[in-house]
Amino acid sequence: MEFYDFEWRLNRSLNAKLAELQRNERLRHVIFSAQFNRELLNHLGTIADMIRQFHKSRKGRRFLGGLLRNQRAMLYFTQPSTRTFLSFTAACQMLGIACNEVRDPSVSSEAKGESPFDSIRMFSSYFDIIIMRSVVPNFAECCAYLMNELDEKDHRSVPIINAGSGADEHPTQALLDVYTIKRTFQFKDPKDSSRWNRLDELRRKYPDLTKSLDGKLYGFCGDIGRGRTVRSLASLLSLFRDVSICFISPPHPKMRLSPDLRERLIKRRVKIYEIESFEDTIEGKPAIEAVDCLYMTRIQREHDTTEDLQAYQGFDLSKYCLSRELVARMKDYAPILHPFPRDSRIGEIPNDIDSDPRAVYFHQARNGMWIRAALLAYLFDVDQRIASRFQKDFAEYHDYNIGVL
Ligand code: NCD
Repeated sequence: MEFYDFEWRLNRSLNAKLAELQRNERLRHVIFSAQFNRELLNHLGTIADMIRQFHKSRKGRRFLGGLLRNQRAMLYFTQPSTRTFLSFTAACQMLGIACNEVRDPSVSSEAKGESPFDSIRMFSSYFDIIIMRSVVPNFAECCAYLMNELDEKDHRSVPIINAGSGADEHPTQALLDVYTIKRTFQFKDPKDSSRWNRLDELRRKYPDLTKSLDGKLYGFCGDIGRGRTVRSLASLLSLFRDVSICFISPPHPKMRLSPDLRERLIKRRVKIYEIESFEDTIEGKPAIEAVDCLYMTRIQREHDTTEDLQAYQGFDLSKYCLSRELVARMKDYAPILHPFPRDSRIGEIPNDIDSDPRAVYFHQARNGMWIRAALLAYLFDVDQRIASRFQKDFAEYHDYNIGVL
């Protein structure tokens, strides 16, 4: 089986593909962020919140650790990764799943000429799920089709999770990003009480502020064209109503919003602004003052060709970096996210912003562990067990406010 055997499948409409990636009304493989709807996002967020709660006590951790004790996961990451790899490992371990990894194909049989498809097929003989990251754009998608074929033939097939494919998609990052935005938009404060709460306080200055992801202006800044996290998250945000997105990027075709994503967002009625600086205005206000949420990204320099480098020489990349002065002009509640790694050579987020309460990128990275654990629980069909046990153990949480996406 080779890559070209799957080519005709890659060129089909998204809708035709989505049906193949699910089974019995549930997602079977996780390849695109377009596989998620609001209901499923909400459900996974709820399960993630429950897992968080269980994890606080020893008894809860024991319950979680017993859920998938006999399952095994292969983490096949042939492209650099820190957070995604580690948070998936931690999420697996939390649920009792044993993990194994191949990160460097030069120490696997691929060094002897084995094709990556043969490797995947082998993994499926030993493991119950394959979580994979690859530089090849549609590789995870092809692997999902391969698994479906194996399932028909010899009933030995396992789910594939795309943990980042080329410059194309990073669906589980988008899940943790939405989960983080949703939690931040609860506007909770440890000092909240019956006499004072942060949301009411904020509403004095911003009377229309709501907890919803609907109706907000999201800013994305940096390498928009080559950042797969931007593509996946923008697609998920398009599920919400009255969403506007402003893309702030250097004026180079590779770094600007790509035509296919633009078209997809417009189809979903997202209002789009494409600008080159935080100072460019959106409905009369500089973008930095207008956004309700800011998603920073790094310039993906590892993809630069010599021509690209020449073209960028004229660009002032510091225009795509935050500073304390800029952050001071942002809305008081607007969270700053970043998928990380941040590039310390360019400094799109200088360290002196980390202590600002709006800087949520470290929480965001930790949220990756909770939402990935929720996704694994869902794929292995133990999410309902978590929900029932939660109802039993935390009956006093009957008003637990976790369904507000
Ligand atoms: C991102 C990735 O690999 O796409 N990192 C991540 O998974 N958190 C972002 C990046 O590399 O810039």
